[in-house]
Amino acid sequence: AQSERESLLIALGFARDFFVKNLSTSEGKSIGLSYFKERGFSPSIIEKFDLGFALDGWDHLLTAAKKSGYSEEVLLKAGLVLQKEGDPSRIYDRFRNRAIFTIHNISGKPIAFGARILTKEKNQPKYINSPETPVYHKSDVLYGMFQAKKAIRDQDNCYLVEGYTDVISMHLSGIENVVASSGTSLTEGQIKLIKRFTNQVTVLYDGDAAGIKASLRGIDLLLEGGLNVKAVVFPEGEDPDSYSRKVGSQEFQTYLDKQSKDFIGFKIGLFKEEIKNDPIRKADVIREVIQSIGKIPDPLIRSVYAKEASSLLDVEEEIIHAELNKSLLKTQ
Ligand code: GTP
Ligand code: MN
Ligand code: MN
Ligand code: MN
Ligand code: MN
Repeated sequence: AQSERESLLIALGFARDFFVKNLSTSEGKSIGLSYFKERGFSPSIIEKFDLGFALDGWDHLLTAAKKSGYSEEVLLKAGLVLQKEGDPSRIYDRFRNRAIFTIHNISGKPIAFGARILTKEKNQPKYINSPETPVYHKSDVLYGMFQAKKAIRDQDNCYLVEGYTDVISMHLSGIENVVASSGTSLTEGQIKLIKRFTNQVTVLYDGDAAGIKASLRGIDLLLEGGLNVKAVVFPEGEDPDSYSRKVGSQEFQTYLDKQSKDFIGFKIGLFKEEIKNDPIRKADVIREVIQSIGKIPDPLIRSVYAKEASSLLDVEEEIIHAELNKSLLKTQ
């Protein structure tokens, strides 16, 4: 007999096919396809990422799926439909009038969807995503890993971005070793997934306050996981998608190469201006850097970074080590 997981995967495959086919209907062409075209997405990238379209209406998917023999129970469990509040016997499509980003598992099977609003409506969330289901554990999934895994292994580096469109635009720029945390903070499960393919991560979060904050948190977690971590800061208001389209793929690649700094250089760079004439603030940043070094499990690598911090921050190495020992004691 079919397991529950299998039947959910089959239903999700049906939904993927449905959303993809919607793009070639007249409504899909004029609304969905033109949205992707405006973002510079080519037909082949649309195909590679199973991009699709959810038609406007309450039950397009529901009706088609039931007609093909899928039960309401399976559609509910797969996160494709919702129960009406106050009347749970009535169900309706979760994704309506939105651009669809298919989320695949590591072997390329659809397990969830992200759905972007097409207009600039203020009272609606920009993205609606599938809920947790028996086949979709958000905290163990990175968007784009199926399309990226070979390149991550070949390049021995994984670019980590925030959004679906960052992944896709980077592929268009010829960079395929990229995955997205999809706006949520990085988890141990996601880090384990990356470690199956490489020990090097380059964090490319959005150039805004939220992105920088998330980078700092992500960096510490990656260091704790024993990974080598680099990071790039984008100009204010830019993300990898917008910036790669702004400057073109060649200059984008050059920017990544030039701006990639290890976590110490990244942290110092963020605070460079404010610590210039402020010794107290500088001491804070030194403590910040040492705190991150303290996350590194390998003592040898820790001491290499201690040396680098000493020279970059112009602080005696002994003092770095003394602080490091303090912070190591605290975490034990
Ligand atoms: P675009 O505006 O289409 O370029 O998307 P973006 O990826 O640049 O969006 P943003 O930087 O705002 O967010 C990064 C990621 O967080 C998105 O790709 C989504 O995965 C997720 N996200 C953003 N907005 C929402 C939201 O309203 N709800 C949920 N659940 N996730 C969101
Ligand atoms: Mn499970
Ligand atoms: Mn952002
Ligand atoms: Mn963004
Ligand atoms: Mn964006």
